[in-house]
Amino acid sequence: MTSPSTGSREQLPAPAKIRLRHLQLAKQKGTPFSMLTSYDQFSARLFEQAGIEVLLVGDSVGSTVLGHDSTTATTHQDMLTFTGAVARSVTRPLVVADMAFGTYETGPTDALRHGVELIRAGAEAVKLEGGRTVAAQIRALVDAGIPVVGHLGFTPQSVNALSGHRVQGRDDDGAERLLADALAVQEAGASALVLELVPAALAARITEQLQIPTIGIGAGAQCDGQVLVWQDMAGLSGFKGKFVKVFADVGTQLREAAEQYRAEVAERTYPAAEHSFE
Ligand code: KIV
Repeated sequence: MTSPSTGSREQLPAPAKIRLRHLQLAKQKGTPFSMLTSYDQFSARLFEQAGIEVLLVGDSVGSTVLGHDSTTATTHQDMLTFTGAVARSVTRPLVVADMAFGTYETGPTDALRHGVELIRAGAEAVKLEGGRTVAAQIRALVDAGIPVVGHLGFTPQSVNALSGHRVQGRDDDGAERLLADALAVQEAGASALVLELVPAALAARITEQLQIPTIGIGAGAQCDGQVLVWQDMAGLSGFKGKFVKVFADVGTQLREAAEQYRAEVAERTYPAAEHSFE
């Protein structure tokens, strides 16, 4: 896929609106696509202008915006609020919303109720964590017309059970479990699968075995798409995970702008005459 403004790459036609079938098509053509998290109108519009195909209203909003130290603190109401903000701000990217911790583990009925509310808030697909244990929830959502993106490997909502942020599927048993879970997520009807902190070779194997697209974060270059938390890739969060590349140091720029503003206020050079009214 390519953005309307950067049509030089020999890629898929640039659709006016990204739909799940375009991600499927991208996999078939071997054309990687990009997903970034977004939680507000300004980042959403900038990423749309950049041609980012998928915006993820991640439950990472709990730590990146709301000051919690884990995504387990993010509530369903948080997800509705930030999903609405992003969905109202863009037209082209596919908007995927995370299901908050505790809104789907209890069973298909709860999953469906919360999934419906996320779609009403503007999401075009929902993402939930887990494999075989949440297959019934995925099926219920898909049967109700709600597209689902799965999430396997390191699953942040299980950070306590997984004893911290650790690469998953390193040993043979773990790799086989991950593959079986990935197949179960696909079988349950999911449209795509996020793979987080998975050895590159295993992610490549899963990507090859699945018909649905995989989206990697810390899962190597062979996934069908990639996702990053935007504050990480823009140098705002200061998070230095091995898989993170800082593509622009927006954090430094913003701090310098604030320092400059403060200095000019202190020396009365801002506001100048052109910023003042007669
Ligand atoms: O919430 C989030 O930001 C995510 C990404 C890490 C994939 O789930």
